[in-house]
Amino acid sequence: MSCKFYRYLFCLVIMCLFFSGCRKSAEKSDVRNGNFILGFSQIGAESAWRMCNTRSVQEAAAAAEVQLLFFNAEQKQENQIKAIRSLIAYQVDVIAFVPIVSDGWEHVLIEARDAGIPVLICDREISIHNDSLYAGFIGTDSLQQGRNAAEFLLKKFAPLESSAENDDPDIHQTEPYPFDRPVRIVELSGTEGSSVAIKRGLGFREVLDRHHSVGGVPEFEIIYSKSGDFMRSKGYELMHSILDKLNDIDVVFSHNDSMTLGAIDAMKERDIKPGTDIVIVTIDAEQAAINALERGEVNCVVECNPMQGPEILRLSALLAAGESIPRISYMAEEVFSEDDDLSHIPLRGY
Ligand code: AHR
Repeated sequence: MSCKFYRYLFCLVIMCLFFSGCRKSAEKSDVRNGNFILGFSQIGAESAWRMCNTRSVQEAAAAAEVQLLFFNAEQKQENQIKAIRSLIAYQVDVIAFVPIVSDGWEHVLIEARDAGIPVLICDREISIHNDSLYAGFIGTDSLQQGRNAAEFLLKKFAPLESSAENDDPDIHQTEPYPFDRPVRIVELSGTEGSSVAIKRGLGFREVLDRHHSVGGVPEFEIIYSKSGDFMRSKGYELMHSILDKLNDIDVVFSHNDSMTLGAIDAMKERDIKPGTDIVIVTIDAEQAAINALERGEVNCVVECNPMQGPEILRLSALLAAGESIPRISYMAEEVFSEDDDLSHIPLRGY
C-alpha cells in the first residue's frame, strides 16, 4: 500500500479522535444538565414499601429530566442479571440496581466495569470480594433497624425495679414482669439471602444477646424464625402455622410491615389481640402500620425510608459526569413507638 494511503489513514484516525473528544466534552456538560441515561433494575413489587421506592425513583428521574430505563425483575435474581446485561449492551451512562440478594453479582459487575459503566447499588447491599466493582451504595441502614427494634424491647420489658421510679403514664410496661422465663420472640424475616434480612436479624440479636439476667440466663429467646419473603400473604400463612405449633409467644418481630399486617389478620382470626396479647415490632413505617400503632395493634414501628429517588438521581448525575461519590450513603430514619406522641407523624405516602 502506498505512503499516501497511510497518511490518509493517519489523518482519519486523528480526526476521529478529535471529534470523539469534542463529543465526550459535550456529553459531560449535558450530563451536568441532567441529560444522561440511567438504567435501573428494581426487584419487583412485593410490598407497598417497594412500590413507593419505585415511584420515588421514577418521579425523581422525571423531575431531573433524566431518561430512565426501568426493569422490574419480578423477584428473580436471574432477571436482574439479564436486565443489567441489556443496560450494558444499550451503553447507558449509569447502572443503578436494588440487589434482591447479596451474593452472585461478581460476573455481571465485571462486565459493567469492562464496558466502562459506573454502578450504583441501591437500597440493599451486596457482598463481594472486590468492592471496586461498584461506585457506591445508597440505601437504608438495616443493621441499625434491627438494633432499634431490639432497643424497643429492652425498654418494653425493662425490669420493674428500674421502671418503678418512672410514673410516666405514657410508658407502656408489659405486665406481669419479670417473667420467670425468657421473653419468647417469633421472628418473621425477609427474603432469604437479602442483605436487609441478614442485617436486621444480626442487629436485633447483637443487642438482645448482650442482655442476660443474673445467673447468665438469657432475658430474650428467639423461639422461632422463618422467612415470609416480605409479603403480606406469606406473613398471614406463616403466622397461622406458627400459632398452630407454638404457645406463649410474647413478641413478634417482623422484618416488614406487609408481613406484619398479614400476621395481624391471622392473630385476629384466632381472637388474639395484636399489640396487647403479643407485642409487635415491625420495620418500614407504611401508613397502615402507623395506623395500627395508633390503634394499639402494633407497639413499635422502625422506619425504613423508601424515598431514595432524589439521592439516587443526584449520585447518578455525579457518576455520569465522571465524578466520585461516597462509598456509603444512608437515608435518614426514625423510630415510632407507643411511648411517643404520634400526632406529629406526617402522612407517609406509602
Ligand atoms: O429492602 C427493603 C425492604 O424490602 C423493605 O423493608 C421491604 O418492605 C421491601 O420489600
